[in-house]
Amino acid sequence: MLFFFSGVSPKCTDKHFFFKKLYMFKYVCATLNIFMLVNTIITGTTHGIGIETARVLALRGVHVIMAVRNVVAAKSVKEAILKEIQTAKIDVMELDLSSMASVTKFASEFISSGFPLNILM
Ligand SMILES: NC(=O)c1ccc[n+]([C@@H]2O[C@H](COP(=O)([O-])OP(=O)(O)OC[C@H]3O[C@@H](n4cnc5c(N)ncnc54)[C@H](OP(=O)(O)O)[C@@H]3O)[C@@H](O)[C@H]2O)c1
Repeated sequence: MLFFFSGVSPKCTDKHFFFKKLYMFKYVCATLNIFMLVNTIITGTTHGIGIETARVLALRGVHVIMAVRNVVAAKSVKEAILKEIQTAKIDVMELDLSSMASVTKFASEFISSGFPLNILM
């Protein structure tokens, strides 16, 4: 392990160097691809910091679920993000955090969707 993260090993040959680079390349690819499998629920994505968080995570390939009370506003934000990032994976789901009934309904719909939850914001 130390061999991969330290500089050049005293016994390092060209062959070792090649495999070290290959290992690092695979590691970087795997790290980037992990984002393709990540699902996130973000609240407050109709204004301010919520929009930017959704946009940046979508840009990184994360599947963004916009949990909002204003579905119409969220759909227009979704369209704006899709205009910029055609590959973005975004869903809009209704959630009013001031209503326990809405929270329960949202949770049950999310569980039914079968998506794993990796990040909750
Ligand atoms: N720690 C920091 O440095 C820092 C910096 C910036 C912001 N913040 C915090 O981050 C949060 C967002 O900031 P912001 O400036 O982006 O706020 P904002 O512009 O006021 O946006 C708030 C968002 O929350 C949604 N929301 C409000 N009540 C809701 C409810 N009952 N159910 C569902 N959604 C609801 C709003 O949706 P509607 O469209 O339906 O109103 C809106 O999308 C705030 O809590 C703020 O204090 C922290």
